[in-house]
Amino acid sequence: MHARMNIPQQIELTIEPSGRRLTLSAGANLLQAAREAGLAVNAVCGGNGTCGSCKVKLISGDFSSITPKESAMRQNGSLPADERLACLTAALSNGKVHFPAESLASAQRLQLEGELNPIPLNPAVKRFDIDLSMNLSGEKLSAAESVRESLKVSGYLHTDLPDALLPRLNSLLEEHGQKASLVLNGQQIITALPPEQHMLGLAVDLGTTKLAAFLVDLESGQTLASGGALNPQVAYGEDVISRIQFTDEHKEGAATLQKAVVEGLNILAAELTAKVGLTPAAIVDGVIAGNTAMHHLLAGLPVHNLGTAPYHPSQVDAMTFAASTIGLNLAENAAVYLPPNIAGFVGGDHIAMLLATRARHTLKTVLALDIGTNTEISLLHKGRHLACSCASGPAFEGAHIRSGLRAVPGAIERVFIDGKDVKVQTIADQPAVGICGSGILDAVAELHRNNLIDHRGAFNKQDPRLVMRDGQPEFILVPAELSATQQAITLNRQDVQEIQLAKAAIRSGIEVLLREADCSAEEIDLFLVAGAFGTYLDLANCQRIGMFPRLELKRFRQVGNAAGSGARELLLSMDKRNEAGKMLGHIEYIELTTVKDYVEFYMDAIGL
Ligand code: FES
Repeated sequence: MHARMNIPQQIELTIEPSGRRLTLSAGANLLQAAREAGLAVNAVCGGNGTCGSCKVKLISGDFSSITPKESAMRQNGSLPADERLACLTAALSNGKVHFPAESLASAQRLQLEGELNPIPLNPAVKRFDIDLSMNLSGEKLSAAESVRESLKVSGYLHTDLPDALLPRLNSLLEEHGQKASLVLNGQQIITALPPEQHMLGLAVDLGTTKLAAFLVDLESGQTLASGGALNPQVAYGEDVISRIQFTDEHKEGAATLQKAVVEGLNILAAELTAKVGLTPAAIVDGVIAGNTAMHHLLAGLPVHNLGTAPYHPSQVDAMTFAASTIGLNLAENAAVYLPPNIAGFVGGDHIAMLLATRARHTLKTVLALDIGTNTEISLLHKGRHLACSCASGPAFEGAHIRSGLRAVPGAIERVFIDGKDVKVQTIADQPAVGICGSGILDAVAELHRNNLIDHRGAFNKQDPRLVMRDGQPEFILVPAELSATQQAITLNRQDVQEIQLAKAAIRSGIEVLLREADCSAEEIDLFLVAGAFGTYLDLANCQRIGMFPRLELKRFRQVGNAAGSGARELLLSMDKRNEAGKMLGHIEYIELTTVKDYVEFYMDAIGL
């Protein structure tokens, strides 16, 4: 007798809003299914059922029963009665589910531009022009032999003209009157180009959440096109730690994440080159600046150590490798340069930001920070350069905030409270759907300014402007009838607390650096705030809630995506790459978790 095998029943699930139909085994997890359907669903906690960011509506069919974690969220009001957590729900029969807009990592406002200073051009690649239209030697040589000969004569003694390039070179010569150009990186030939075509490079700011890419003319220094996209890895965990966990828990996890981001970069490269009528094969050099975890995942380096103290990176020095080794589709032999990492949580994007802002080119005292899930801070004072990284968490991305969401159209980005009057401004002037980081920060500052919360962040229960829900006071920013979701957009004590924790992480990092450098806040001449989130911050409100020290506002400069600008400079200049390498040797990195009294700094910074 044969033993009967247990074949899982196949079901068909329709996933909205894309309408994609999937055939799955009964019992398939909804978060996995959404990923399979190509939907980038928010998963801040990496599928642990704790962040509440993967909400889904079950439209039809049978699903696994509600879990205790979901029941708890229902009870505290953070999971509506008609929604479930995709990461904790299994599909048991044919059916349909719908992921609401706030669960989808899409349409986010992407800050691409940063300040860009003109620099002398000295890219890694050089052009070598070929003109075989006049055979001066009179010898009968093939095109390949002539090119090899002229390379030698010009000093490229060790340069090999690869046979694989010959068909392309020959057709270019034929099409362009026996003229073409080779692109060389050192002694290596990268590709052949039409004689008039400029060499192009791709610079990328590889963020945990966002990718910002720039197509740069390496011969004029101009940025020809730029574009942004969400980092497709978001679907596997929204912050660095969730992604490291994903690689720990899944055998192919690291490869999956590498593939996801490379695909995202390939799409961007194709979009940008299409804007100038070319293909990614025209890109002869690349620079990708990211935080250390993004760097490691892209390069295929192990990330496990980045998730455990003392958070040692696998690679500190700059790396250069063939783009093709990671599946990046650029010109045949194009290389990709990754700037050095400072530490486990301070990566090449911070180096790029420092390069672009010229923070090290002044004798002044400069504090430069890039706010994100991790906030990297540098302090330059009296010839010293100290740096640290603070775990500011995803609250500024709207996570862990009940009505929070990222900077999508309809997100409240500004809040002003005057007496009973509450004014909000939303992104793209769309009806309000929730509140994003800059809005939450404003709201907390305004609640405090209006005495609705005290310095501990506790609500003043006597205030008639507050409403009670489940015995807890909360403040209504947008009433249900005016919100796009027909649900009131409110802030409660817990939301305020999330912002207090995030801002305390940043302020305590600043204070530790100041102490280590024996410098007072008053001595900071220039306070640089970089990054997408930093661009939209109301600096006065940042001071009101104690996130930044109270300095004259004219000492602050919001510099936009300076990491992207730095990546472009690294693409245009080998001198900048040398500067990046040298910078590494001068930075004193301070691991905050090893600072004995760090907790005291942190606790001191929590109050408003
Ligand atoms: S609760 Fe599902 S991903 Fe966090």
